Amino acid sequence: MTHFRPTRRTMLAGALAGSGLLARGPSALAASGGAARAVYGAAVRGDALANDPAYAKAIAERCRTIVPEGGLKWAVIRPNRETFDFTEADRIAAFAGRLGLGLRGHTLAWYGAMPAWAEAITSRVEAERVLTGHIETVVSRYAGLITSWDVVNEPIPDDPAASEGLRPFVWSRTLGADYIPIAFRAAAAADPAARLVLNEYDVEFVGARFQRRRDALLGIARGLVDSGVPLHAIGLQAHLPADRAIDRDGLQAFLREIRAMNLDVLVTELDVIDASLPGDVDTRDRRVAETARAFLSTVHEVVPPSAILTWGISDRYTWVPMYFTRSDGLPNRPLPLDATMRAKPLMAVIEQFTRRAA
Ligand code: G3I
Repeated sequence: MTHFRPTRRTMLAGALAGSGLLARGPSALAASGGAARAVYGAAVRGDALANDPAYAKAIAERCRTIVPEGGLKWAVIRPNRETFDFTEADRIAAFAGRLGLGLRGHTLAWYGAMPAWAEAITSRVEAERVLTGHIETVVSRYAGLITSWDVVNEPIPDDPAASEGLRPFVWSRTLGADYIPIAFRAAAAADPAARLVLNEYDVEFVGARFQRRRDALLGIARGLVDSGVPLHAIGLQAHLPADRAIDRDGLQAFLREIRAMNLDVLVTELDVIDASLPGDVDTRDRRVAETARAFLSTVHEVVPPSAILTWGISDRYTWVPMYFTRSDGLPNRPLPLDATMRAKPLMAVIEQFTRRAA
């Protein structure tokens, strides 16, 4: 276990780069022609960062902000009740600090990647103690370095109509809907300067289920805002299956409601799931880029996102084949760089919506 502690210098570099405060100032806006442009970033894996120089170079050259893909999840940092293991997250934080990249945190309350010992908690009092204790320790450790947190991730069940209410897991079972404000308040108490994000997937497509998901997410956001809970932004994960149509009207109506609540929007986990696309690489890469463009332009017209992060940077390291293996056996190509770190058309689309790396 390493015990990297952010120094004042790395903290400052990270904080300035990650907050967007410098870049969002008047001169940056003027430089981009008055249109706000997002910071580009990617989810990173600590083992690849340490062992694959081409990957580390691509991240360093292309990203202004990064987020650990798994390094801050409960299953990774809480092997048991007594221990915190920050090895992976510290490695990524040190990399961000060295390069002056912004850093996001993912995630503090999520049903996925929960260790069995925590999932077994049944008492409300214990649940609140463990959840808030975890958030206090993790958020305060990276205060000033991680400037934006996915506090609550994926609270909505796949189909809210079928399951009623929230996705079942230890915190919703023990604390009910209160787990959400409890988590946000604990994060704000641990780092009052951090931007706190409610992060969801499958809110952008045509179909009644996706409309229900947008409605459910709006309901949660409105409830938090109305009761003064510190919520600053909505994260649209944007794992986009290429065979699903973006609901332009539905997504824009949703975003107008978000904007009316004065919340920021981030694209947090963009990639394009290419399992349904033809095998031919040029066709596939073009369709992947078009899918992302349709989504990003729909969002940008209503509320330019403050950050656009892809879930990985290169097809060499992607979660997509874990669930969406292609039937022709070809490797998936969901990300902006191919497996040899060459830029694909998706990178060009992202560059239209983001500021160039410094
Ligand atoms: O670390 C081991 C490695 O040592 C081993 O060689 C390998 C063999 O399978 O497994 C590795 O761990 C896997 C890890 O991904 C590799 O990065 C874990 O078993 C696997 O569970 C883990 O999956 C991650 C998944 O979340 C669950 O935490 C994916 O990488 C990650 O991309 C995915 O991310 C989620 C977001 O957090 C939330 N939104 C959806 C997104 C995609 O599913």
